[in-house]
Amino acid sequence: MGSSSSPSCLLVGVFLFLAVVVSAFPSVVQAGITRHYQFDVEMANVTRLCSTKSIVTVNGQFPGPRIVAREGDRVAVRVINHVPYNVTIHWHGVRQLRSGWADGPAYVTQCPIPTGRSYVYNFTIVGQRGTLFWHAHISWLRATLYGPIIILPQLGVPYPFTKPYREVPVIFGEWWKADTEAIIHQALQTGGGPNVSDAYTINGLPGPLYNCSAKDTFKLKVKPGKTYLLRLINAALNDELFFSIANHTVTVVDVDGVYVKPFDAETLLITPGQTTNVLLHAKPYYPNAMFFMTARPYATGSGTFDNSTVAAVLEYQNPSRSSPAVFAKNLPLHKPTLPAFNDTSFAANFTGRLRSLATARFPANVPQTVDRRFLFTVGLGTSPCPKNQTCQGPNGTKFSATVNNISFASPTTALLQAHFFGQSRNVYSPDFPVVPLMPFNYTGTPPNNTLVSNGTKLVVLPFNTSVELVMQDTSILGTESHPLHLHGYNFFVVGQGFGNYEPAKDPAKFNLVDPAERNTVGVPAGGWVAIRFSADNPGVWFMHCHFDAHMSWGLKMAWLVLDGELPNQKLPPPPSDLPKC
Ligand code: C2O
Repeated sequence: MGSSSSPSCLLVGVFLFLAVVVSAFPSVVQAGITRHYQFDVEMANVTRLCSTKSIVTVNGQFPGPRIVAREGDRVAVRVINHVPYNVTIHWHGVRQLRSGWADGPAYVTQCPIPTGRSYVYNFTIVGQRGTLFWHAHISWLRATLYGPIIILPQLGVPYPFTKPYREVPVIFGEWWKADTEAIIHQALQTGGGPNVSDAYTINGLPGPLYNCSAKDTFKLKVKPGKTYLLRLINAALNDELFFSIANHTVTVVDVDGVYVKPFDAETLLITPGQTTNVLLHAKPYYPNAMFFMTARPYATGSGTFDNSTVAAVLEYQNPSRSSPAVFAKNLPLHKPTLPAFNDTSFAANFTGRLRSLATARFPANVPQTVDRRFLFTVGLGTSPCPKNQTCQGPNGTKFSATVNNISFASPTTALLQAHFFGQSRNVYSPDFPVVPLMPFNYTGTPPNNTLVSNGTKLVVLPFNTSVELVMQDTSILGTESHPLHLHGYNFFVVGQGFGNYEPAKDPAKFNLVDPAERNTVGVPAGGWVAIRFSADNPGVWFMHCHFDAHMSWGLKMAWLVLDGELPNQKLPPPPSDLPKC
């Protein structure tokens, strides 16, 4: 005891020696560190559009705090639920290799965290760099419970583009004056469409185009001649967004945490669930002007939508004034023009320009062969109005939404637990249809019968199955673009088109060289998209429309990817603090 030759002192000495060696050679492969966060989920009063309401937040912040990590780091987030709702948090876009227990969708990979309880989400970030985001994954709580995930390259590894002077998260949201839980609850009761939002927000702020919101405007202050990396995130619930900065062109460099071949754009399209990193090259001189950065929806459905516009302001620091920086008032203000709300050809052109970097360092590992092919229709439908009730959906029915005409029925226990403990009976069935059971002219005149079926069905895939999935929009209750999100994977967007997918003709045009790799893709309104992925991550993986309205109506399903043979191809047992249902 206390002797200087104790083994622990020796260990400390060895550790110090190693630390010196490692820091002397910063280019050695970094194992990554663990980043600890504590998320206290708590209510907070927030005022927007001149009205105050109590919202669910993390640590009282809105939008929520940033998670910052480097590629290769482990992240451990202790989520403590202090609110009167069940809560889960999803780390949207994080691949969760063999860490499905930390993925977060309620009743899919976990039971929700009840009031007064906590759960530690533990995962490692592997092979991703860019921007993702975290959000609640139960009911509509993500309306206010969201924040950025920033993944930096490993230490000493540069970006494959101009090093930015500063990096700025720009997170789009959607704001309702009313309580969003009451809105979705009421909509599901009546069968009608949920009330649309009152405003869009940028970094939580609606901006000067809304009533009494001039003071609630996000301002991006830049220096002439510098390059800024904007980390754009669409955390809105139900709306794809066009985004543009007046008199500025940006360079797209990364989507969904994957580098792309850089290209310039004046206007971007970003669906809920998507992220886009862009370089903003500030003008080389002081422009004596201010510039609006605006976003408003790309809307293709036949229902109502919030057609308002969120604006933030780009301001230049005047280099001729002394510091601290002075930002002059009353300068001319330039405004961008955005495409028409229904500009589907803009959408197709924009997404058609996205290409993987596909270099030796950042390859596009597109599956070149396919083991299993799937065709899923995605779209709306109806379900009958219960007796003794009047419903506000189409022709007195209730709105529903489906994949292959199955509206997903959420179980009351978590699918991943049921699978892992061999208790799937009465929870789910493994027979999700590979193709539509009743084929029809999907984008032609819709069938008279729009009734959907309900079920909790999964597709079961052996480990490492190479999958090709075509998602086909339908014209039932109107064609509409649907942002489909797959958990646990990135996929390659190998093809897309309008009308019905034609298996005899369309695959010849697939891009198997440098297609965009992402986790959320817009299924074109009245069209289809083909994706490929290799099922190398065992677990139960949710796939759904990232419009919360459609998700609430059942536009969701799940893939069960079985364990492989090797120990590192198996899902480990659940953490001991995993909530129970
Ligand atoms: Cu961002 Cu399952 O969602």
